[in-house]
Amino acid sequence: MITGKKVKTAYFCTHCGAEHAKWQGQCRECGQWNCLVEEKIVTSKTKATTLEIVDKKILSEISFSSHIGYKSGISEFDRVIGGQLLPGMTILLGGEPGIGKSTLVLQVAEAFSRQDRTIIYITGEESLTQLKLRSQRLHVTGNNIIAVNATSLAEINGLLATENFDVVIIDSIQTISSDQYDSPPGTVAQIRESAYQLIGQAKAKGFALILIGHVTKDGMVAGPKLLEHMVDTVIYFEGDQTHLYRLLRATKNRFGSVAEIGLFEMKTEGLVEVANPSSFFLAGYHQDLRSGSVVTAICEGTRPILVEVQALVTSANYGTPQRVAGGLDNKRLALLLAILEKRCGYPMISNDVFVSIAGGLKLSEPSLDLPLLVAIVSSLLNKPLDNKTVVVGEVGLSGEVRGVTMMEKRINEAFKLGFKKMILPYSNLSQCAHSSMELIGVKNIQSALDLFN
Ligand SMILES: Nc1ncnc2c1ncn2[C@@H]1O[C@H](COP(=O)(O)OP(=O)(O)OP(=O)(O)O)[C@@H](O)[C@H]1O
Ligand SMILES: [Mg+2]
Ligand SMILES: [Zn+2]
Repeated sequence: MITGKKVKTAYFCTHCGAEHAKWQGQCRECGQWNCLVEEKIVTSKTKATTLEIVDKKILSEISFSSHIGYKSGISEFDRVIGGQLLPGMTILLGGEPGIGKSTLVLQVAEAFSRQDRTIIYITGEESLTQLKLRSQRLHVTGNNIIAVNATSLAEINGLLATENFDVVIIDSIQTISSDQYDSPPGTVAQIRESAYQLIGQAKAKGFALILIGHVTKDGMVAGPKLLEHMVDTVIYFEGDQTHLYRLLRATKNRFGSVAEIGLFEMKTEGLVEVANPSSFFLAGYHQDLRSGSVVTAICEGTRPILVEVQALVTSANYGTPQRVAGGLDNKRLALLLAILEKRCGYPMISNDVFVSIAGGLKLSEPSLDLPLLVAIVSSLLNKPLDNKTVVVGEVGLSGEVRGVTMMEKRINEAFKLGFKKMILPYSNLSQCAHSSMELIGVKNIQSALDLFN
């Protein structure tokens, strides 16, 4: 029980979490403008209990065996988090409502449970019955998963201090609150304090901590940006509600690359790993010829993926022509169209242009430039490409085709999926060779387009 209560008002930066005594227009820590929010803080005079563990060792004497991590065996998950969970590591899993965060962590928990790891799943969001219903649908038995419905930080801390777990899951950090603060759960002060204490416990007791976080409209984890600095790894679960695939992407990783992605398919029985993304995304690629459709090879992390880019060009009837890009940056499309008009003389100003990535993927890779332009011209002229050719290349302002990374991998992937020919940047040609693929290097857009006309 809190005896001597002290109430004060503080102003928190929603960007970095810094606390200010007075309101001001600019955060003194991070320099952001208009980011301070008022929150009431109740502090008890009796200080919060501190743990006695002091983690202090001579570096050379830290035994390595105590820091060996564990893999879930769900390779799409393991790869994104940097290979394995490590004792004391904290992962923040962000994602839009209903995208499948709870599903993913429950399946990960089950994978560890089957390896006789002990897991505690703390849900502040759902009742234990709801959790059980999901478990049944996902065929999760959960022999070593302890399910707890709690939102009080003090209660959770008590539990974590007295029992030992390998993995602790918090679903979600926005529901946890400390009675040290009067502000409601989900506010900056509460999120900051809860995360701070839980991460401290994880480090002290050596369990791996997975925090689920909701995201705001602009796609950031709700609460202070500070949360992202506090954790070791930040992963986002994204996808399109209208499509079945879900993408796991790391945006920060102290233990591995941030470029890796994990791909899942959402099914009634849960998330299923997509081991061969190229076949998955080319599933709808018809073997009959269509204009405006071009296959390209992108690289996500170290993995090459073949995807189909589609374009539809129709004559604009009145006013400003429409440019609609699905899964791509609209400005990039506008720029590419301007380059096409200026350098190759196609009358793009009198046409509406719609482009998208089949399957609903959201991509930003520069190597998509050339395939997009080829697809656009193919649709404009109503001339289909043959379906054994892959196009890859970045395009510069003067219409030059620039080299891209990991060309060898892209070529091998295209070959594996039965493609015979690849149109690629001329500058990449010298680094690559393939005995069975015909490789054609191009220096500018025009020479690429000439190959089809
Ligand atoms: N009976 C079902 N059959 C198939 N898919 C289902 C079923 N029930 C739920 N789903 C899928 O699971 C998704 C919800 O997953 P989950 O609850 O893991 O998401 P979440 O990210 O944790 O959501 P929240 O933000 O609400 O906590 C739904 O959007 C749907 O795609
Ligand atoms: Mg959930
Ligand atoms: Zn700030």
